[in-house]
Amino acid sequence: MASNVRVAVRVRPLSRKETDVQARNIISTGGNCINITNVKAEGQPEFGDHRERVKSFTFDYCYDNASDCIETTELASQELVYQDLGTEVLQAAFEGYNACMFAYGQTGTGKTYTMMGY
Ligand SMILES: Nc1ncnc2c1ncn2[C@@H]1O[C@H](COP(=O)(O)OP(=O)(O)OP(=O)(O)O)[C@@H](O)[C@H]1O
Ligand SMILES: [Mg+2]
Repeated sequence: MASNVRVAVRVRPLSRKETDVQARNIISTGGNCINITNVKAEGQPEFGDHRERVKSFTFDYCYDNASDCIETTELASQELVYQDLGTEVLQAAFEGYNACMFAYGQTGTGKTYTMMGY
């Protein structure tokens, strides 16, 4: 049976402020998995093995808008996020079931954008 709780992660593109200070993307995604590179460990052989340099986390869904690739951006469109996560919750609510959806994350990470669009 499918779980009643589903967790998705969405990666937003770097903001103007971030690119202005030459920030770089340390996130990569593949399937439902997200990989976070520890930049402090780069070029430091004593820091340990690959697992300590790159942390991977798996979610039910993973949406990557950080890539410049148009294809990826389209794959993680508002429409897709809504289809994957919104429709079933809405249907359940119409049928009288309690349903809850929330966005969690640091300020400026894209919660409002994901829930409401522009
Ligand atoms: N997937 C995305 N693609 C393109 N731009 C995005 C995406 N997600 C967020 N942004 C942009 O990033 C900025 C911050 O997003 P947003 O306002 O949704 O953050 P927030 O998590 O709601 O922040 P706060 O906690 O301060 O309310 C906005 O300018 C928004 O347009
Ligand atoms: Mg917000």
